Amino acid sequence: MSQFAKKMTEILNHGALNLAMAMGYKHQIFDTLEELNKPVTVSELALASGFHPRYLKEWLGIMVTAQIIDLCKDQKGEETYFLPPEHASFLTRKGGSMNMGVYTQEIPLLTACAMDSVTQAFRTGDGVPFSRYPEFQGFMAELSDAKHEKVLIDHFLPTVDQGQLCARLSQGIRVCDLGCGHGVALNLMARAFPNSSFVGIDNHHEAIRQGAAAAREAGIDNATYLAQDAADIHRKDELSSRFDYICAFDAIHDQSHPLDVLKGVIHMLAPGGLFSMIEIQARSSPADNMDHPMGPFLYTVSLMHCLPVGLNDNGAGLGMMWGQEKAEALLRDAGFEEIEISPMEHDPFNLHYLCRAPLRSALTM
Ligand SMILES: C[S@@+](CC[C@H](N)C(=O)[O-])C[C@H]1O[C@@H](n2cnc3c(N)ncnc32)[C@H](O)[C@@H]1O
Repeated sequence: MSQFAKKMTEILNHGALNLAMAMGYKHQIFDTLEELNKPVTVSELALASGFHPRYLKEWLGIMVTAQIIDLCKDQKGEETYFLPPEHASFLTRKGGSMNMGVYTQEIPLLTACAMDSVTQAFRTGDGVPFSRYPEFQGFMAELSDAKHEKVLIDHFLPTVDQGQLCARLSQGIRVCDLGCGHGVALNLMARAFPNSSFVGIDNHHEAIRQGAAAAREAGIDNATYLAQDAADIHRKDELSSRFDYICAFDAIHDQSHPLDVLKGVIHMLAPGGLFSMIEIQARSSPADNMDHPMGPFLYTVSLMHCLPVGLNDNGAGLGMMWGQEKAEALLRDAGFEEIEISPMEHDPFNLHYLCRAPLRSALTM
């Protein structure tokens, strides 16, 4: 078999495998196998998971031939299945920031939502409305849970401004999470720093509603939510100099008008205030991404979601892989002069752009 034929065989196998793993992840079958923590028969797994043994047997066939799950035999000669702990740590919800299982859902979900719309837009160059992705906010919340739960408070925030941000958060400052989605990060921060006040901004009303409901349920009283188009913020006097720290996790590249949004960030920051922009670690040219370990995956997510969403409303259509060079240039165009770019120790997918608002910002905007 030629090298390329081998590569094509792998592609077909792994594409199919991703889909099957997404189903297993959604139904928490990996989690169930981890909890069982021993080789089990199909019937035992069916009993523990609540799923039908015939479907489970087919699914296990995929997992065994792909060497995700080990196939063994018990003393009676019956086939048993075992999820090795070193695999479980990447596939179960307990894996926290190591959980890669959650990402298996991304391509199947985007395919189900938007395959037809994106295929059509491919010809016309149009955007695809956010409403075409009805399950996407829920998925982002799940991703945020996996990403932020163990990392945000204990590892990320302490690195910001050499630890000075956490000291100020403990004393009490005004914080905004822009493009906050379901408010996972906002509510975690609000709970960890009760002396500070937190505002989540997003233009997705249902996400905002759910973030506020989660805060209420958790008894968090220092987090509020605002439904607002980020591209209009720079025109709103009432939002001028409102915050000392603004963060935007994975939210700027989806914007149709990212320059206006970044101008809005400067408008909302008090002079000298800090902005953390968290964006995918990539370079702006595909030629410089040849060694990117997740290049094809991330460009595909971008093709299926970030690019079409960012093209709406005659948008810029940055795409998720807009990369460091374009990101830095846009931050400078918006008016940031002090920009520090650093990798994130516990999040190899992303880069942290820490920007300080000019001291004159509140006077000139
Ligand atoms: C990829 S999601 C990230 C959500 C969240 N920050 C996270 O890390 O889970 C991008 C978010 O930006 C929001 N968004 C997109 N365009 C927006 C706009 N013009 N104004 C406000 N929010 C916007 C979306 O509704 C979505 O919640």
